[in-house]
Amino acid sequence: MTHRIKSFEDYQTLYDRSVADPEGFWAEQASTFQWRKTWDRVLDWNFEGPDVKWFVGGKLNITENCLDRHLETRGDQVAILWEPNDPTESPISYTYRELYHAVCRMANVLKSRGIQKGDRVCLYMPMVPELAIAVLACARVGAIHSVVFAGFSSKALADRINDATCKMVICSDGNFRGSKVIPVKDIVDEALKTCPTIETNLVLKRTGQEVAWHADQDVWLHEAYQGVSDECPAEEMDAEDMLFILYTSGSTGKPKGVVHTCGGYMVYTEFSFKNVFQYDEGDVYWCTADIGWITGHSYIVYGPLLAGATTMMFEGVPTYPDAGRFWQICEKHKVNQFYTAPTAIRALEAKGLEYVKPYDLGSLKVLGSVGEPINEEAWHWYDDNIGAKGLPIVDTWWQTETGGIMISPLAGITPLKPCHATLPLPGIQPVIVDAEGNEVEGNDVEGLLCVKFPWPSMLRTTYGDHERCKNVYFSAFPGKYFTGDGVRRDEVGNYRIIGRVDDVINVSGHRIGTAEVENAIDEHPNVVESAVVGYPHDIKGQGIYAYIICQQHPSDMETLRAEILSIVTKVIGPIAKPDKIQLVNGLPKTRSGKIMRRILRKIADGTSDKLGDTSTLLDPSVVDEIRDGVLI
Ligand code: PRX
Repeated sequence: MTHRIKSFEDYQTLYDRSVADPEGFWAEQASTFQWRKTWDRVLDWNFEGPDVKWFVGGKLNITENCLDRHLETRGDQVAILWEPNDPTESPISYTYRELYHAVCRMANVLKSRGIQKGDRVCLYMPMVPELAIAVLACARVGAIHSVVFAGFSSKALADRINDATCKMVICSDGNFRGSKVIPVKDIVDEALKTCPTIETNLVLKRTGQEVAWHADQDVWLHEAYQGVSDECPAEEMDAEDMLFILYTSGSTGKPKGVVHTCGGYMVYTEFSFKNVFQYDEGDVYWCTADIGWITGHSYIVYGPLLAGATTMMFEGVPTYPDAGRFWQICEKHKVNQFYTAPTAIRALEAKGLEYVKPYDLGSLKVLGSVGEPINEEAWHWYDDNIGAKGLPIVDTWWQTETGGIMISPLAGITPLKPCHATLPLPGIQPVIVDAEGNEVEGNDVEGLLCVKFPWPSMLRTTYGDHERCKNVYFSAFPGKYFTGDGVRRDEVGNYRIIGRVDDVINVSGHRIGTAEVENAIDEHPNVVESAVVGYPHDIKGQGIYAYIICQQHPSDMETLRAEILSIVTKVIGPIAKPDKIQLVNGLPKTRSGKIMRRILRKIADGTSDKLGDTSTLLDPSVVDEIRDGVLI
């Protein structure tokens, strides 16, 4: 097991060591895993390529580290504890031994359907144990998983399948989400009409609803299991072989396939999981994220299983059957570490304390937050009512691209400061730069957040387009990884993340590219042009505000609004629906035709009295018109 930090002094010593001798430090952590062959060199890197390789020449399979190596010591310990959407349905648990066999069985199914090392497999599934099993089964056979959050539309799913030229999809018939039943298979069927590379669609029966069947492609998972062995030797992988692709939004219209590799990701997710959450033997750890996002990859599946933890998966939503569900589950399963998103905290806070009070939260030891800056009010509500003012809250800053938690308190060790992610983990070297790229040193400063030295779980490329990876993350400030976030460092060196400085909106902790939403809205036949910005939203953190120009004045605003929402749902998914839509005659543009989003953002957040210099606009009068306009 990697080093478990026990005190703040220990943290400081380890941090200093990790900067003075990164290779020695990470070699020591990595040596605690099971490698088929030890690496020849710890690190090769340059950020110009970028070309980053950790544990060069090392051979391993990450599932041997998640599963096989635990069998002797913790074979009968619960690995995955699953709580269904419906509280009257029984939870299911898998011990490490059961999980091992389940993964082997699924791995053999993949192999029997022609999946080989290097093939891409898309997972579009509800939060059921089979999703975690499918993730691990891919890793076992060396296939690259691309999990797509099951709230994305068929068009968004098809785009992701095609970008990665996936050979197989694994889905379910349907998905129970709160009181709704989502027709997952129908969505996949629609997507597959435009996905020529898919050979097999493996379907898990979850809801039992009627589904259309395409015998040339569709295979029921329970039928595929027939006669399949529950032992499957793991494929030997190079440390730098791809482990997975995960799509995330950026400033341009097309989502990027962020690529993570086997060795470094393994070492960093285990190390960060253990140290941030201070997981102790026998604890029950619960991260409420969906495996469709990076948080679920790193801190529901890989990190906890690598550390031999008991990790809980929840199928449902925080408000079903009522807003007490999270706390009811914490009581029922005696959860020790609870990790959620500020948007969920705010939504539950709004429902009132009567949903918290009935439950005994005495088992909780650590609370976590992720996905967006946590505001002061939510932090205190969490602290007062869930933590009874006595628990550490780890505000964990990181990104899909970073693979693991970068800046965060270590629970019970790092002194807390509300709304601050506090200090970098060992091995992480953040720097603040100004707009010109000069490093801003010292404390009590603000600027753009970069990282100046590689860490094991950083992204290696964007799938199929390395140039894009270079341009987005490594070109703005040569020699540094640019996060896209603004940050403040306080008088004593604590980091506070301010938020995105690019055209990415963070809605309920999920990244949505403004250009993606604009492209979707522009598909409406009457929309000539649109511009989308984020604005402060009480529950979601940021809401989506769309300004649209129509070709002909719409006769019925209600219908137009409904049509736009429906198009966005169809092209991206319900998470990207604009909260506010305003019809305008023109957009504020520079003489070179660039939309001045800064101005639109100020109008959207109600601070249009502070617009600053508008003299570079082609037609400054549009600003007054937009400011005086009304929503549809
Ligand atoms: O803006 C930061 C915000 O979420 C972005 C990363 O989004 P994503 O790749 O979807 O990953 C989310 C889960 C790791 C960051 O650029 N963000 C994430 N965590 C925090 C945060 N902002 C402030 N505080 C955080 N703890």
